[in-house]
Amino acid sequence: MLYSLQPAIIYRAHLVLTFCNGASMKRVLYPGSFDPFTNGHLDLVRRACKLFDEVIVGVAVNSGKSPMFDMEERKSLIEQSCAGMPQVRVVTISGLMSKAIKQFDAQALLRGLRVFSDYEYELQMALANRSLEPDCETIFMNPTHQNSFISSSLVKEIAGLGGDISEYVPPAVASAVYAKAGK
Ligand code: PNS
Repeated sequence: MLYSLQPAIIYRAHLVLTFCNGASMKRVLYPGSFDPFTNGHLDLVRRACKLFDEVIVGVAVNSGKSPMFDMEERKSLIEQSCAGMPQVRVVTISGLMSKAIKQFDAQALLRGLRVFSDYEYELQMALANRSLEPDCETIFMNPTHQNSFISSSLVKEIAGLGGDISEYVPPAVASAVYAKAGK
């Protein structure tokens, strides 16, 4: 346990030293339901780590969805999936995203765009967040095309019908979904 925490502690010490010297920290907040976290989400986190000093994955409430996992379960699965990635912090967010971006001192929200049909929903959300908080920027990144068809709902449906989801989600997530689906 302590051993797995070491890279995170060393990385945080590095950040403190760097930013005490006057550099500005680039931090992005990647919000979503993550019910559950998929390889597509992991792909985006990895890409964001190349661009930002810190990537905060925010497990949030989508009032239109009935989740399979509670917030703490989702947070724990993401932490297990991102173990060994010291730039990544996982949090739960119960309120508005436009407030959370300020709370976590992030420069932007990150959202994934898989296919063109995602865009309408994403644009509406980005504009609503900016209307609530004028400084709230949303940036979009694309997962690799092999991950572009993966969605959390597809994963739950496949597992629920006895299919193999090991190609679509990290191992810890696969076990947890099978356990919930009773498979
Ligand atoms: O993965 P999802 O379900 O597409 O993520 C949507 C989510 C959770 C990011 C969105 O519903 C959200 O931001 N919820 C927090 C509450 C909020 O700010 N709602 C207004 C969004 S414009």
